[in-house]
Amino acid sequence: MNLKDLFINFFVSKDHKQIPSSPVVPENDPSVLFNTAGMQPLIPYLMGQPHPYGKRLCDYQKCIRTNDIDEVGDTYHHTFFEMLGNWSLGDYFKKEAINWSYEFITEHLNIPVERLAVTVFSGNKFIPFDEEAYNVWKSLGIKEERIAKLDDNFWIAGETGPCGGDSEMFYWRSNDPVPESFDPSDERWVEFWNDVFMQYIKHEDGTVEEMPKKNVDTGLGVERTVAILEGVNDNYESSIWKDVIALISDIAGLPYKGNERSMRIIADHLRTAVFISADPAGIKPSNTDQGYILRRLIRRAIRHAKSLGIDINSDWDSQIAKLILSKYNKYYQELVTNENTVIEVLATEKNKFNRTLEKGLKEFKKVTEGKDNIDGTTAFHLFDTYGFPLELTIELANEMGLSVDVEGYKEKFKAHQELSRAGSQEKFKGGLAGNSEIETKYHTATHLLNAALKLVIGPEVHQRGSNITVERMRFDFNCDHKLTDEEKAKAERYVNEWIQAGLDVSVEEMNKEMAVASGAECMFIEKYPDKVTVYTIGDNISKELCGGPHVKNTSELGHFKIIKEEASSAGVRRIKAILD
Ligand code: ALA
Repeated sequence: MNLKDLFINFFVSKDHKQIPSSPVVPENDPSVLFNTAGMQPLIPYLMGQPHPYGKRLCDYQKCIRTNDIDEVGDTYHHTFFEMLGNWSLGDYFKKEAINWSYEFITEHLNIPVERLAVTVFSGNKFIPFDEEAYNVWKSLGIKEERIAKLDDNFWIAGETGPCGGDSEMFYWRSNDPVPESFDPSDERWVEFWNDVFMQYIKHEDGTVEEMPKKNVDTGLGVERTVAILEGVNDNYESSIWKDVIALISDIAGLPYKGNERSMRIIADHLRTAVFISADPAGIKPSNTDQGYILRRLIRRAIRHAKSLGIDINSDWDSQIAKLILSKYNKYYQELVTNENTVIEVLATEKNKFNRTLEKGLKEFKKVTEGKDNIDGTTAFHLFDTYGFPLELTIELANEMGLSVDVEGYKEKFKAHQELSRAGSQEKFKGGLAGNSEIETKYHTATHLLNAALKLVIGPEVHQRGSNITVERMRFDFNCDHKLTDEEKAKAERYVNEWIQAGLDVSVEEMNKEMAVASGAECMFIEKYPDKVTVYTIGDNISKELCGGPHVKNTSELGHFKIIKEEASSAGVRRIKAILD
């Protein structure tokens, strides 16, 4: 049986309810570009809001982490992965969580206990050693020398919010004899599951406070676990990737051996690009946010296809994408619905990149004229602006008898990477749960703007994305034209009139079909459980499925002002607005 099905069946048998996988682009979480863990869509519930499915949940969640994009090409880094998770929302705690992890690993995955090791939180100046978790593992027969106490075994998504000590499970993935004691720094021990005991909230000043309810959040990595179960040391040799790699190898007419790096990058990046472009958020390649990541992934895959000698004008990309789609469409309906979009996105971006490549070659000739050396800045400029990988610059330079300052390039590259990492961390910090007073006001203003745009442009307008920081709100919606000044002014006027009218914001719980039948607005219907919360403003000025939080009365919002209206992607406009 497939690992996902095994896991879900197991936790359903322990009275968990399966919840649907959320889209990879978070719907109402301003802090991240993509869901990076199974818990991300559950943050409001981990913070205390009752979940309509109850207190025991499980799912498989599509996740994207692009911080380590440059590491992809080795045996185990991926930009997209699936995370299996089980959650207790104020229900069971350490004993049950660890017992069930152990039962699943040893009795359902049939992993021998001799090849297992675990970690527990050793404590720090705020929080004590997790003796309870330590004792539970011991009671299950894990030897003391296989339980490492680590002070960095503490899990939090970002900087603040729900968090706690965690306990990670490792497997000895090597043909070498299994050592008696566990050394977590030995890479032959591979972490595959993490049980987080979320019993604290971390505040901005770094202090932690005990939560009234104790939660469990676990994450089991599908790619790694499948590789472990199938006894391969290279994730790309597992059944998740094998046929994709075989197809790439076939198209290139080259063996995997000796071409591993490029083939892995193509496989990984195209899989992630498939999932991003199939997402209901309708992301298209662009130069900002999710669209930029999508562009980078596709272009990098193309460069590596070129380096393998693949004719990039052929249908190589759609062949690979179709295989990937067919491997996952049983689990993710949007891959069926949006298959054509995926293929189109790839083809369009390929054509655009082809044009940039030509310009890049011209630029290469220009900047190298009369020189016998390409300095680091020029090599980096070729990479950054024209997408020339260093290898391509070196190859072209060699043909012309030029040398390349590789060290200088690497320095530039590193500085750039640090900048973009800092950028993405900033993004992450931007208010994880979005629960501050001002963010709450922006949430409500978002609903009002959505309602106003329907009146100004037409009822066919719907939200395509939203992002809130303490400074402003951003709202993406479908619309085929640039808004006129008059339309913007009208939308502002509606929102401000509703604010001045002091309308009550009410919330009720109802079943999903009822909510939709009553005309409530909702972005991703398939994402919602059967029971949903619906926020209504005034006498049906706005009605939306939403997890909140919202103000009690619109008079709390102050004054609404649109500061920018621009294109977001094809057929999608973006408004930035403030409350002052
Ligand atoms: N949220 C935890 C993780 O991502 C389970 O490791």
